[in-house]
Amino acid sequence: MTTAQNTPLLEIRDLSVRFGGLLALSEFSLAVEHGEIYALVGPNGAGKTTVLNCISGFVRPVAGSITFAGTSLLPLGRDRRIRLGIGRTFQQLQLFASMTVLENLLVAQHSAMRSGLFEGILPFGRAPREDHKARTRARDTLILLGLEEYADTRVSVLPHGIQKLVGVARALVLRPRLVLLDEPAAGITHQDVEAMAQNLRTWRKELGTTLLLIEHNMSLVQAVADRVCVLDYGRKLAEGEARTVLSDPAVLEAYLGREALEEPEVVRSAVHEATSISEEQEARREDSTC
Ligand SMILES: Nc1ncnc2c1ncn2[C@@H]1O[C@H](COP(=O)(O)OP(=O)(O)OP(=O)(O)O)[C@@H](O)[C@H]1O
Ligand SMILES: [Mg+2]
Repeated sequence: MTTAQNTPLLEIRDLSVRFGGLLALSEFSLAVEHGEIYALVGPNGAGKTTVLNCISGFVRPVAGSITFAGTSLLPLGRDRRIRLGIGRTFQQLQLFASMTVLENLLVAQHSAMRSGLFEGILPFGRAPREDHKARTRARDTLILLGLEEYADTRVSVLPHGIQKLVGVARALVLRPRLVLLDEPAAGITHQDVEAMAQNLRTWRKELGTTLLLIEHNMSLVQAVADRVCVLDYGRKLAEGEARTVLSDPAVLEAYLGREALEEPEVVRSAVHEATSISEEQEARREDSTC
């Protein structure tokens, strides 16, 4: 076992998942480096969420291995994986809608404490001190995400874009080493996507968090991802830098279909969309490089 910086933080090898007759993942492999923002993209039903579910312990693969910081994950339960430093958000938010934003972050920490996530925290006798710590950590996280003004607002009355950020805050409040984000930009406005891109870079820089991001929003992927992996029918179709991968004809075909590819105008605009990283985005990306 090694936790050396020169081995990937997360390594998935030859992972296969079966749901009845459906092979949802087939011998899928990837490696995410320490401090990397790695994007997993692909058409609906490609198997992206299934990858995240295998890492966090919601789905058991039929074959393959997953190693996190040198520890084999598959024999471990979900709580143990959280304790190792793996956080996640959900495609369907799964927040407590009738609670406030702050309460959602406190509940997340309370569950983690009960499972022994925070070292030195005992279930009895230290409650007031631990409650104070949990509140401080929650407030710090809300400030980091620019959400402090919503701390005492019930989640159900917040706009969708803010709820998505609260979902991320709930994952980050536990200070994971790796956070798995399942479509953080789904259904949010263009302006919120910009804010999300800025946020992802900030967390990486300020918390040293490594990010594995599933996303259909290619603007976000281009703006933040160091590397992109394209999944199609449970198999890896391509992997590399966003600009190269997203203009690959095989990738465009998987997204657009062969018929669309025969229309030169469709291909031109898709390639343009996939490769047009603005100078402003490039500049910000350079600024944020650790
Ligand atoms: N628990 C399950 N039981 C049965 N089939 C499942 C289950 N979870 C996922 N699947 C199927 O496995 C395939 C991959 O699903 P998955 O949710 O991983 O796709 P995805 O790439 O995340 O898609 P989307 O972009 O729509 O979220 C799909 O065909 C899906 O219907
Ligand atoms: Mg999904």
